[in-house]
Amino acid sequence: MGSVSSPGAAGASPPRPGLRGSSGSPGWVLLPQRLFLGATFTFAGLQKLADPNFFDAKVPTSFQGQLSLFRVSSPIGPLLGPIASHAVLFGVLIALAEVAVGLGTLLGLWTRLAALGGALLSLSFLLTVSWGTRPYYYGSDIVFLVAWLPLIWVGAAAVLSLDAALAERRAGAHVDRGSAVPAPETGPIDRRAAVATGLLAVGVLAIAGADAALGRALGRNRTGRRAAVAPPTPAASPTSTPSAGPSPTGTAVGQVSALPVGGVLAFTDPGTGESAYAVQPAKGTFLAFSAICTHTGCTVAYEGGRRRFHCPCHLSNFDASTGAVQNGPAPRPLRRIPVEAVNGELRVAT
Ligand code: FES
Repeated sequence: MGSVSSPGAAGASPPRPGLRGSSGSPGWVLLPQRLFLGATFTFAGLQKLADPNFFDAKVPTSFQGQLSLFRVSSPIGPLLGPIASHAVLFGVLIALAEVAVGLGTLLGLWTRLAALGGALLSLSFLLTVSWGTRPYYYGSDIVFLVAWLPLIWVGAAAVLSLDAALAERRAGAHVDRGSAVPAPETGPIDRRAAVATGLLAVGVLAIAGADAALGRALGRNRTGRRAAVAPPTPAASPTSTPSAGPSPTGTAVGQVSALPVGGVLAFTDPGTGESAYAVQPAKGTFLAFSAICTHTGCTVAYEGGRRRFHCPCHLSNFDASTGAVQNGPAPRPLRRIPVEAVNGELRVAT
């Protein structure tokens, strides 16, 4: 069985498997986009797997560290509890999924299924990593999500496609050499695979949601999430020491015991809904800052070793004791949030 027509054959040559279509066909038009997405996702997955910090819970930029922030800042935060409980496993699975999506896209192997996987990954990143980015078009994940859509629709369209080559191989001697090779991208197997993947994704989300709901029903402690709401009060002192007040004011955002000296506690600012951090730079001194970078709105990460907040978008750094800009394009300090410690709770005025 051969995949290339005889060099001496007379008349029109049959299309070569995996190299079909005119230069204006969707497969060729989308080829730069397909190669870019495939290469980017492959690289992103390999980079995660090769980065030991990504799986080190003590590093703020690790998968675990990012999850702790996303759980209070993301609209799907309640679904992330089970993932945070098995962070290393899910971190590896996400990295492997990125590699699989990237290689499938590059090779034109189950391309539409790979594109669907890429779109689901991009959607999950949009709802977590990029959710706080303002304006929205500064975030890359929404662009990736949209870029995957045409590939879900047409796949590789038999251009530089392993799917097309395999289809030709399967057809073997029964294929009429003068007819076109059936395009595998629109075949029933591909559709079934896409539907199965969608059902699998829905199933995982349903299990995660059920687990989160069960956790809440059992009173699972979710560190850093908003607790009981108290009546609004005037702004409190920006720093304070633990005290035993008779009538706590403001909104509790976490337990003092969950915030060690030099550590950080992520919470949602009850006044604005923004992601925020509380820190304890010295024993008994509590500070809180918005986690939204003053440059273009990316979410900063806390780097405990350097006692600073770091913005991954354009590399601004902020002093964790004052919120002041240390370097980078950020024009202003991080917004200060008044916080006080009362009866073992960190409370923010609302
Ligand atoms: S968004 Fe540009 S440095 Fe933070």
